[in-house]
Amino acid sequence: MPAITICLAQSKGGTGKTTSTLNLGAALAEKGHLVLLCDIDQQFNLTTALGVDPLILAKNMRHLLTEDKTQATDIIVATHETGLDLIPASLELDYAEPAMPQLAREKVLAKKLAPVKNQYDFILIDTPPYFGTMVVNAMVAADYVLMPVQPEPHCVSGLFALLERLEAVRDNISPNLALLGLFVTLYNKTRASHVQITESLYRDWPDHMFKTVLRLSARNDRAALEGRSLVSVSPRAELATDYRQLCEEVLVRVGR
Ligand SMILES: Nc1ncnc2c1ncn2[C@@H]1O[C@H](COP(=O)(O)OP(=O)(O)OP(=O)(O)O)[C@@H](O)[C@H]1O
Ligand SMILES: [Mg+2]
Repeated sequence: MPAITICLAQSKGGTGKTTSTLNLGAALAEKGHLVLLCDIDQQFNLTTALGVDPLILAKNMRHLLTEDKTQATDIIVATHETGLDLIPASLELDYAEPAMPQLAREKVLAKKLAPVKNQYDFILIDTPPYFGTMVVNAMVAADYVLMPVQPEPHCVSGLFALLERLEAVRDNISPNLALLGLFVTLYNKTRASHVQITESLYRDWPDHMFKTVLRLSARNDRAALEGRSLVSVSPRAELATDYRQLCEEVLVRVGR
């Protein structure tokens, strides 16, 4: 069976896209799934969060997107974590866009991932916090879009725009692209606004919301410093437990 491909997207910055890509990937790998993580963000936070230094690698996502001859297998690297491979990004992605093919440029990533889809159970793509060619490429390569939501007013108000963009990609390019769902992250139960906004999300989007709410955790940054996922570094941390629970819900929604 080809890999199920999930793109994590959210136009607001700092809302847990990278953390969720990494820890959902780690939770899937822990269950024995083979997972390929793709970093298509020029901030390359996912790459560094896995302890990979793009400067010492000959190639990265930029080469995959701009060079006809470069294939995914040329740039996939293994990570410290069993079952987790990575397509690394680097700052160079910043100037990839003008060098991408003029024709069907939004399909480049999908085309490049196609040959490795049978080697993995899941492919997760971490995207930048603004909507552009990279996010479109990630959505076109994906079967599902998964959206982390920080319970803050700006993040919630931006959801409509993001969902409209998903629909535009579906209507124009990828008719089978589906919304996997929305989940709340960076949740602080002692903040009245978080409680109130989270309640309103469950009220307004009952079918789309995952039941799991990912709690704010002081441990997360330390795991990132170690170049590992929280799920593997601190398996008993509250947030690691939350990610495992989210993983179970994801498996149900994708039918695996
Ligand atoms: N549940 C959490 N508890 C505490 N800190 C978290 C949690 N989730 C993420 N963080 C931290 O919040 C910051 C932003 O998270 P992250 O980098 O995952 O967001 P992002 O959406 O990928 O950001 P960007 O839009 O810049 O790519 C990071 O420092 C990360 O370690
Ligand atoms: Mg990020």
